[in-house]
Amino acid sequence: MSTEFDLVIRGGRIATAADIFDADIGISGGVITALGRALRSGREEIDASGKLILPGGVDAHCHFDQPSSDGSVMADDFDSGPRSAAFGGTTTVIPFACQQKGQSLRAAIEDYHARAEGKSVIDYAFHLIVTDPTPQVLGQELPALIREGYTSFKVYTTYDDLKLNDRQIIEVLALAKREGALTMIHAENSDAIAWLTEALEQAGQTAPRFHADARPAIAEREATHRAISLAEIVDVPMLVVHVSGGEAMEQIAAARAKGLRVFAETCPQYILLTAADLDLEGFEGAKHICSPPPRDTASQESVWRGLANGTFQVFSSDHAPFAYDSKTGKKLCGDGASFAHVPNGIPGVETRLPLLFSEGVGQRRISLNQFVALTATNPARLYGLYPRKGTIAVGTDADLAIWDVDRVVTVSNDMLHHNVDYTPYEDRQVTGWPETVLSRGEVVIAGGALHAAKGRGRFLECGPPDMGI
Ligand code: URP
Ligand code: ZN
Ligand code: ZN
Repeated sequence: MSTEFDLVIRGGRIATAADIFDADIGISGGVITALGRALRSGREEIDASGKLILPGGVDAHCHFDQPSSDGSVMADDFDSGPRSAAFGGTTTVIPFACQQKGQSLRAAIEDYHARAEGKSVIDYAFHLIVTDPTPQVLGQELPALIREGYTSFKVYTTYDDLKLNDRQIIEVLALAKREGALTMIHAENSDAIAWLTEALEQAGQTAPRFHADARPAIAEREATHRAISLAEIVDVPMLVVHVSGGEAMEQIAAARAKGLRVFAETCPQYILLTAADLDLEGFEGAKHICSPPPRDTASQESVWRGLANGTFQVFSSDHAPFAYDSKTGKKLCGDGASFAHVPNGIPGVETRLPLLFSEGVGQRRISLNQFVALTATNPARLYGLYPRKGTIAVGTDADLAIWDVDRVVTVSNDMLHHNVDYTPYEDRQVTGWPETVLSRGEVVIAGGALHAAKGRGRFLECGPPDMGI
């Protein structure tokens, strides 16, 4: 038996959600087998002196190749999306497998496996989106799928083709309680949005910036409060996704203060964009149409506080990649179309980590340990992938990002690897970038280039959510 490691990463500083320490990392068979000083040799070695080594990011909210009933087509599939994620230091993605109404969940999951087959360069799991919770789905399909490693699912309170009513949400929550799964909720009041949208359109107020008026923070607050109440009635944990600001956060913080296990996620757009970004020249504001919409600078400050004080456990991209200059993307209905007909969502799978690192750790709004917890460890725990993913320890997958913390980068769409024709963060300067990225001990990204084969990523069965965070 060889006494050499397959790979040794020497001289780096390692940060986890709990610690910061200097150590070499010995890797064999894709797994970390030793952490220590002056480790014996490896067949290959990486010099990480002066670098920071973090667990590869876990992006627990992204959309790839997700068809929609409006005919829009996502620009990223399971090739370009995960590749772009890897260039940004992420080594695990958890996109959604969305059930079409009338479709069985089993058929939906098979469809998404076919879409992903042979494409992803990094490991991936799936959340389900439950849009049609029939007795068959709740009684048989979902319990079986949970046991097969699909232990989290999203439900919507808005969008006609996706939303559930309160009774249906209760039924899904009750199933999650029985089976030990985690329900994620998109919380916005659908009827209020429909009424506001109609009033705005009747008044001729259809430009992209009116999207923010049609989906106000109150509509998010109300649905967040209602969803938390439903979870309290059922007595089950729940996670509120893409929270945009203080109004919804107050509901979440109050629930947590009462001892309810309500978890929350936020995203780059809520710390870096505002509703003013929807008010650009011509139709350009459509680039920033997502739901909930970005709010104002006070909301940004609230979200930063929530990232620092534990209101948020997860920081995801909500990468929803619609090209701007495309008849199947943002301009689906033309570039004079009402905001109500613009596909919702913005890209961000590659910029998620550098943006939070630079603005959060660099500006001392959050600690380095919090950064790791929010972007890797907590999502791995909540979605049943820990400790295999989301940390650096002996026995875990060698999913690592080696950061140059001093590298100054001006973000531009040209340098990104998604298939979208814009980034909301064009010209933004960040300090710190992941320069070498490894997945199960294999170098995937180095020197600004891809070094691994399309399709090497493996599907991950998720275990039970770890709600003890
Ligand atoms: O606008 C957004 N967030 N689009 C993506 C779909 C979703 O609701 O997460
Ligand atoms: Zn959503
Ligand atoms: Zn989303």
